[in-house]
Amino acid sequence: MNKTIIYGHRGASCYAPENTFAAYNKAIEMGANGIEIDVHKSKDNNLIVCHDEKVDRTTNGIGYIKDLTLKEIKKLDAGSWFDNKFRGEKIPLLDEVLEFVKDRNIFLNIEIKNGPIFYEGIEHDIVKAVRAYDLIENTIISSFNHFSLAHIKNIDKRFKTGILYIAGMIDPWEYATKIGASYIHPLYLTINEEIVLKSQNNGVKVNVFTVNRKEDAELMKSFKVDGIITDCPDICKKVFNN
Ligand code: G3P
Ligand code: CA
Repeated sequence: MNKTIIYGHRGASCYAPENTFAAYNKAIEMGANGIEIDVHKSKDNNLIVCHDEKVDRTTNGIGYIKDLTLKEIKKLDAGSWFDNKFRGEKIPLLDEVLEFVKDRNIFLNIEIKNGPIFYEGIEHDIVKAVRAYDLIENTIISSFNHFSLAHIKNIDKRFKTGILYIAGMIDPWEYATKIGASYIHPLYLTINEEIVLKSQNNGVKVNVFTVNRKEDAELMKSFKVDGIITDCPDICKKVFNN
């Protein structure tokens, strides 16, 4: 069996402010094989890495990313809300994360945040950026917006996509195949061994989110998932022993 890929969810977000380089570095230090990030677009069309549509929760600023310029976003402190020792951490650009991934030759799971706020052309912009860093092989593009995933495949078939979903889905491998997705990315609570096996037998891999407890990681290991997305890479590392 191939080894299970451990993705630090927004980095090692249990231990450092999510979607900052402090969190990405921590994830790799703890043994993650890759990172998961969330991407939006700024007012001046830059690809911005942040989970929420607004900067309010994770910085000292306020407002929607779509209404802020890159210059305004880069002034924000994205670390202090988590712990004072992270003061001065910045919201990253997708380009900066791609450089980080390239330097370390790790895996990258880019979640396109596209809805209920919609970003015109975000799929094209992400494809262009990943191509520029020659990182198609290392990258999965995931989203709850499956139109965005179909769009990515239309732009460039070489890109691997992953269908995110939270509630259960009937025969998800059939749907994945229909829209050209190589992966399903279900909430871990919605799957069982049969779904994993049938997906894999139909050529669709399974990456589950967000698994933070040892007993849940052990259950996912028994299901033989392909990847695990976690805020706590150290816990998953111990269980999977990759
Ligand atoms: O990749 C899985 C996970 O990131 C999806 O949910 O809300 O944490 O972005 P969320
Ligand atoms: Ca995400």
